[in-house]
Amino acid sequence: MGMAEALLIVDDEEKILKCIERMMIHTDLRILTARNAEEALDLIRNEDISVILSDNMMPGMKGIDLLSTAKSHAPDTIRILMTGQADLPTAIDAINKGEVFRFVTKPWDNEELEQTIQEGIERHRIIGKLKRADEASLLSIGQAIELKDPYTRGHSKRVAAYSLLLAERAGMSAEVQRKIKHGSWLHDCGKIGISEAILNKQGPLTEEEFEIVKNHPAWGAEVARQAQMPQTIVNIILYHHEHFDGHGYPSRITGYQIPKEARIVAVADVFDAITTDRPYRKGLSLSDGLEEMKSNMRGTVLDPDLLDAFHSLAKVITNYEASDSNGIGCT
Ligand SMILES: [Fe+2]
Ligand SMILES: [Fe+2]
Repeated sequence: MGMAEALLIVDDEEKILKCIERMMIHTDLRILTARNAEEALDLIRNEDISVILSDNMMPGMKGIDLLSTAKSHAPDTIRILMTGQADLPTAIDAINKGEVFRFVTKPWDNEELEQTIQEGIERHRIIGKLKRADEASLLSIGQAIELKDPYTRGHSKRVAAYSLLLAERAGMSAEVQRKIKHGSWLHDCGKIGISEAILNKQGPLTEEEFEIVKNHPAWGAEVARQAQMPQTIVNIILYHHEHFDGHGYPSRITGYQIPKEARIVAVADVFDAITTDRPYRKGLSLSDGLEEMKSNMRGTVLDPDLLDAFHSLAKVITNYEASDSNGIGCT
């Protein structure tokens, strides 16, 4: 890598700039500071910045407006807003509109702030990698995300293998199949935004934790969109947890409103999830997994026709049981 990644901190209070700068000094980030929006925009135009962390209440242009302006000048820069409690609704609105990546409320918790900045840096790095990626690096990006969650080792590759069987059976073109393969590798890439404490939790998640996990399709799709990936791939990432009956997430769309590529990957994803061990339960055998899907998910969670097609491939699939399950080729 070339020059160090840059973090720009914007706040009208000198002592806050100093304090955050001191807090981040141990990282190898290049730290820039600005005391108002004009200074910040000047830096944004002239420097390659990975993350901007901006206060909201400043004389002159507010932080939120600075970040929207920054978005048009440097769309790949990750934007984080610092706000007081009073601005919370504004901050949440900004997140929903995709104007900012996260917000941090003042007074902040050092550990949480640093974590948020690091996640912003990581996200910026992944967008950059996706933009330049050849096929081998797409797979390694998918695998790097699995490292955060050891229980999903090999998940992306297996999901790709199952999805491809189904895509081929469904008569999809070679070009679409290629995108389905890449989308399968990356379908969980939004998990970079979720803490390891949640991903590795021994036992079922609390409601709050599950709400956080539920953000991964939207976060991942946003990364893929920013990296200008093809729509088929964005659709897979965004819609792989939608259910055929509309009870999935995040959009709760139903049936054929869910793009076919996402319905295909959903079958593959569920199958791999129930047939591998998780921290708090053992995985089913491949044939029991197929049975479980047929009796409990046909037409509710999963597209019935695709599920039937998957079932008719059972011979090919259960043959994998005999071989090393990590050894499924996916080319
Ligand atoms: Fe997922
Ligand atoms: Fe998954």
